[in-house]
Amino acid sequence: MESSVITQVQKEDVQVSPKAGQVSRSALKQPQSCNIFKALFCCLKVQDGPKPLPPPPSQSALLESQENGTVVKLSEVSLLPEVKAEDQGKICVVIDLDETLVHSSFKPINNADFIVPVEIEGTTHQVYVLKRPYVDEFLRRMGEMFECVLFTASLAKYADPVTDLLDQGGVFRTRLFRESCVFHQGCYVKDLSRLGRDLNRTLILDNSPASYIFHPNNAIPVASWFDDADDAELFNLLPVFEELSKADNVYTRLDQLREQ
Ligand SMILES: *[C@@H]1O[C@H](CO)[C@@H](O)[C@H](O)[C@H]1NC(C)=O
Ligand SMILES: *[C@@H]1O[C@H](CO)[C@@H](O)[C@H](O)[C@H]1NC(C)=O
Repeated sequence: MESSVITQVQKEDVQVSPKAGQVSRSALKQPQSCNIFKALFCCLKVQDGPKPLPPPPSQSALLESQENGTVVKLSEVSLLPEVKAEDQGKICVVIDLDETLVHSSFKPINNADFIVPVEIEGTTHQVYVLKRPYVDEFLRRMGEMFECVLFTASLAKYADPVTDLLDQGGVFRTRLFRESCVFHQGCYVKDLSRLGRDLNRTLILDNSPASYIFHPNNAIPVASWFDDADDAELFNLLPVFEELSKADNVYTRLDQLREQ
C-alpha cells in the first residue's frame, strides 16, 4: 500500500495531462484520483479527522550520508535560518497555503484574484487562484505578532509565485515547500521538530490534520476553504492568535484556551 502510493506520487510528478484544464475542481478533493493537480498542489491530504499519532520517524529516515561518507543527522539541520532581530522573542507560526489561505485550480474562473502561469514539462498551464476572505488582514496582523513561516506541501514552482502575489508585505520570513516535508504513510508531514525553533514556542495553522500528525498539540486547526465568499475563519482566528502571541509556552496556553 505504502510503496504503491510512493510510486504513484513519483509518476504524477512527471506526468503531464493535456486535459488538466477540463478536470473538475472536485478532483482536487479526492485522494484516490491522482492527476496533474496533485502533482502540483499538495497531494494525498487526509481529509477527515486526525489519525492516531504514528510512531516517530525511524532513525534511518533522519540520517543522510554525505558524499564523503560522513553521516549527518537531518534532525540537526534546521529548516529555518537564525531568528531575525525584529522577530526575537516572537512565537513561530507555520502557515499552510492551499485551502488555508487560498484555493487554486486549473479550471478557468472569471473572479480569480491571481492567474499564475506554471510550466510543467515544457507546457505552460494557467493556475487560477482565489484568496480566502480576510486573508490580507490576517497576514498583516500575524506578521506583527509572530515570526511567520509559509510551509506548503505544494511544489515551489507553483507556491512561490502565488506567495509573491499574496504576501506583498513580506510577512513570511521563510518559505518551505514539498521537499521540506517528511513523506510518511502516504502523507506529506510538516515535521516541526526540524524547524530549529523551540517546540513550546511554535504553532501550525493548517486545514489538513495529516500535516501536523507528529505535533497535534501545536496545531490550530482550520476548516478547508474552496470558494465560500462568506467564510470568516481567518477573521475569527485573529483573537485566538492574539492570545497565543502573549504566551510563554504554547502548550500551556492552548490547554487553557481549550478549557474555556
Ligand atoms: C564532509 O563534508 C561535509 C560537508 O558536506 C563537511 O562538513 C565535513 O567536514 C566533511 N567531512 C570530512 C571527514 O571530510
Ligand atoms: C521551552 O523548551 C525549551 C527546550 O526546548 C526549554 O529550554 C524552555 O525552558 C521551555 N520554555 C518554556 C516556557 O516552557
